[in-house]
Amino acid sequence: MSQQPIGVFDSGYGGLTVLKEMVNRLPQYDYIYLGDNARAPYGNRSFETVYQYTLQCVQWLFDQGCPLVIIACNTASAKALRTIQQLDLPRIAPQNRVLGVIRPTTEVVGRYTRTGNVGVLATRGTVLSESYPIEIAKFFPGLRVFQQACPLWVPLIENNEHDKPGADYFVKAYTDQLLAQSPGIDTVLLACTHYPMLKDKIAACLPPASRIISQGEIVADSLADYLQRHPEMEARCSKGKTLRFYTTDSTEDFDSHASIFYGGALRSTHVLLT
Ligand code: DGL
Repeated sequence: MSQQPIGVFDSGYGGLTVLKEMVNRLPQYDYIYLGDNARAPYGNRSFETVYQYTLQCVQWLFDQGCPLVIIACNTASAKALRTIQQLDLPRIAPQNRVLGVIRPTTEVVGRYTRTGNVGVLATRGTVLSESYPIEIAKFFPGLRVFQQACPLWVPLIENNEHDKPGADYFVKAYTDQLLAQSPGIDTVLLACTHYPMLKDKIAACLPPASRIISQGEIVADSLADYLQRHPEMEARCSKGKTLRFYTTDSTEDFDSHASIFYGGALRSTHVLLT
């Protein structure tokens, strides 16, 4: 296969916030983005369902020639990544690799806080998985982690309602619930790749000195580091600077909506996953 792109996957549009930073940081590679918009959001779905959907999307990206797939979705990283890495990969594509977004984030989040109190805003699935408290404890054992599920934010964003005044109510409701857990929270992690679209509204609801961490640059830096440490994988990733977008739902909707996340016009192709 001549093209061996880096695959980037999310339930919907959120992963575009990560892809954008990857392309900025590592423009030389070919990339394929797959948004499973027809089945988004994943955040309230069961472990089994998220696992099945994610595996199907990863397999599809492998079928397109991707040697490396980045799961740019916290919910899928929390609920499916480990099983895919440990059980599926050795069976379906032992030479390929699948990476997520939680590990790179938890490796660095402790550098941002002065009080040692970190707030994590995420989907219900990510919060219930406890992935963030467990992983952060490995790298920064002294940190206190406070989680808040925000189940209505992804539906607002997927439906293009995030910059409307109606979104303010739900942003304030969840940020208030997070802040009520500890007055010492000085760092808030946007642990869902959709949430950067709400960053200004979230900032307006937090104390002025708060730091808001989104994952795009962190994951892009981590990918650059990974490729440097794994020259055999780096050599397999083709370098033609192409970018292709696929969606499981309407391409018209994807193209108009995705450009808001990615910046600039883009054209997607439909893919049917059954
Ligand atoms: N962008 C996904 C994440 O990072 C959203 C999950 C969803 O579809 O609810 O968790």
